[in-house]
Amino acid sequence: MANVVITGASSGIGEFLAREFSRRGDKVLLIARREEKLRKISKEINGEYRVVDLSSEEETKKLADYLKTRRVDILVNNAGRGSFGFYEDQNDDLLMIKLNTIAPTILSQAVIPQMKERRSGKIVFISSVCAFVPLPFMTTYAATKAFNLFQGRALKCELNQFGVGVVTVCPGPVNTEFGGVARVPGSMTGLPRDGVESVAKEILEKIDQEIILPGVWGKFLGTLTRLSPNLISSRVAYRFLRPLVG
Ligand SMILES: NC(=O)c1ccc[n+]([C@@H]2O[C@H](COP(=O)([O-])OP(=O)(O)OC[C@H]3O[C@@H](n4cnc5c(N)ncnc54)[C@H](OP(=O)(O)O)[C@@H]3O)[C@@H](O)[C@H]2O)c1
Repeated sequence: MANVVITGASSGIGEFLAREFSRRGDKVLLIARREEKLRKISKEINGEYRVVDLSSEEETKKLADYLKTRRVDILVNNAGRGSFGFYEDQNDDLLMIKLNTIAPTILSQAVIPQMKERRSGKIVFISSVCAFVPLPFMTTYAATKAFNLFQGRALKCELNQFGVGVVTVCPGPVNTEFGGVARVPGSMTGLPRDGVESVAKEILEKIDQEIILPGVWGKFLGTLTRLSPNLISSRVAYRFLRPLVG
């Protein structure tokens, strides 16, 4: 049985990862802001929860201090959100940067020492296929996901010698609350996407890999954007997204 901490576990990928970890017998601590949802899920999976706003550095540091006092075998840095539209109109980009990049940094730095000491443990970064392409109209979001990708891949090399694993996950479009939160236009939310439950299952199956492109869309878009020069993929994305911005 592993002690697992999952951020952003009140919905979407985080919720279903929590359910999968619990199904295999692990003990899960769920982190997010919506207490009602956390209470319900943690009751169903016999886990624990803490209400934390991870876009607040102060609250994240308090959580980090708490994690230092308990055993953490697996940390899943999943909480995150996107934003869509013209760059200068994204008034809450700074909070998104804190949530998507600063929180996983603070939390990972808090648990790595105990993992190194035990010579075991795993850190999971939920990035995105957006990490492979400088993405117009989701500029800051894609940059934060590139941060997660580089963070995960570099840490993987750094921690390998200490027996601590790191995996970076790059999903494509997944059927969660993400599109609504990111204010993605309705015409895009109608596009096909991967099922959240199967994505969560695949992440657990492949957790010992260095990088996971879960789902059909994750594999398709991830492979395409990894193989295409950035200049081309950015321009193709611009042509596709420009009419949707208005
Ligand atoms: N769905 C996709 O198409 C897709 C594709 C690629 C990558 N991803 C990545 O997958 C991860 C999970 O997203 P999802 O698709 O599962 O979306 P989701 O259903 O919207 O879940 C986001 C989770 O993050 C939590 N969260 C948001 N802001 C927070 C804050 N300030 N403090 C603490 N928790 C916060 C939310 O809980 P509360 O609102 O209760 O706080 C929720 O549990 C994100 O990192 C996202 O970038 C998603």
